[in-house]
Amino acid sequence: MTSQAADAPALTPAVGDDPASTPAVGDDPGEPPAAGLYVHVPFCRHRCGYCDFAVTTAHDPEQRAAYVDAVRRRLDDLAAGGLAAMAATTGFGSVFVGGGTPSRLAGEQLAALLDAVRAAVPVAGDAEVSVEANPEDVDASLAQALAGAGVTRVSLGVQSFDGDVLALLDRRHDPEDVPGAVAALRGAGIEQINVDLIYGTPGETEASWRHTVAAALGLQPDHVSGYALTLSPGTPYWRAVTLGQQPAPDDDVAAERMDALAEQLAAAGYERYEVSNWARPGARCRHNLATWRGGDYLGVGPGAHSHWQEKPTIGPTEKTPVNRPTTTAAAGTRSARPSGWQLPGCWPTTASGCACRRRGWP
Ligand SMILES: C[S@@+](CC[C@H](N)C(=O)[O-])C[C@H]1O[C@@H](n2cnc3c(N)ncnc32)[C@H](O)[C@@H]1O
Ligand code: SF4
Repeated sequence: MTSQAADAPALTPAVGDDPASTPAVGDDPGEPPAAGLYVHVPFCRHRCGYCDFAVTTAHDPEQRAAYVDAVRRRLDDLAAGGLAAMAATTGFGSVFVGGGTPSRLAGEQLAALLDAVRAAVPVAGDAEVSVEANPEDVDASLAQALAGAGVTRVSLGVQSFDGDVLALLDRRHDPEDVPGAVAALRGAGIEQINVDLIYGTPGETEASWRHTVAAALGLQPDHVSGYALTLSPGTPYWRAVTLGQQPAPDDDVAAERMDALAEQLAAAGYERYEVSNWARPGARCRHNLATWRGGDYLGVGPGAHSHWQEKPTIGPTEKTPVNRPTTTAAAGTRSARPSGWQLPGCWPTTASGCACRRRGWP
């Protein structure tokens, strides 16, 4: 997700400015970033009150299987249209399966999806392969399936370790679910774990937030993303605020929480390499780095978009050529127009219909 917070104070240096930091592969700003592939999985068990991502809660096992097939066909189309040749020099350096909630797919479906990716397009042997997961979905079986499918990095949507805050956010997991999920992922041999946190939820206290950060650090994640709660029009939370039933997030409080997060993470040895992202040395997310540096990325799925510069149009059936650079910053960003992707009749991403039309897109 793109950053939600205001510009960071000069607590930590910008990307690549810190000579003491250990660059990861592909982490050198002078090095052209390898192309990234983003695959969107739009399924969620339930829509969290604050979230306006392109997701659907109306799905059954057959639809999920059909979706994996649709992604495979789409990748095959792209490969047939010349994508494989274009990325053939080095192959894709990262694959990011984001959501929605990819962990709503069965382990074998995620493995099939990643097999389809590798069969259709060249993926570098040392590629970073990330999958987003919700803590309540992760058990030993899913973790092993992910590791077996070559997943190197799992991003867990933890958000908070305060049960009251999770309830306010309308999440479906308990803080107690998280250590088991992390242990299952580590036990299966997943190399890198990110935790997503949200701060500034009305009702969250400074002590609660500091506890959340400390509990996250207790799990020794390789990477932490911290986002200010964003009030997104059309969400249940936004409606409650509009009707005066809930307070809006307070910018000053959010800034204080971000400072506290930065302070705790710096003290624990994490490097801040983007407004909302911290990593242990060597554990920066390559996919995000390439995106932020304006590299090429290809998005597949109804909530994805692409940034593919100065290259021939890919595929004979593109409605929106993927060679048109977009100004949107990140794959999977919440406001991105789905580009180069249409399921027949457009995918009904929400109960209120197609997300493109709701946003006024043609
Ligand atoms: C693609 S989303 C969700 C991944 C996964 N389904 C989950 O919920 O954990 C990635 C992250 O965006 C963040 N996010 C989504 N909506 C947000 C909002 N309105 N304000 C702040 N952060 C948000 C959450 O931290 C979430 O983990
Ligand atoms: S925050 Fe994650 S689980 Fe919740 S609705 Fe959004 S994508 Fe789905």
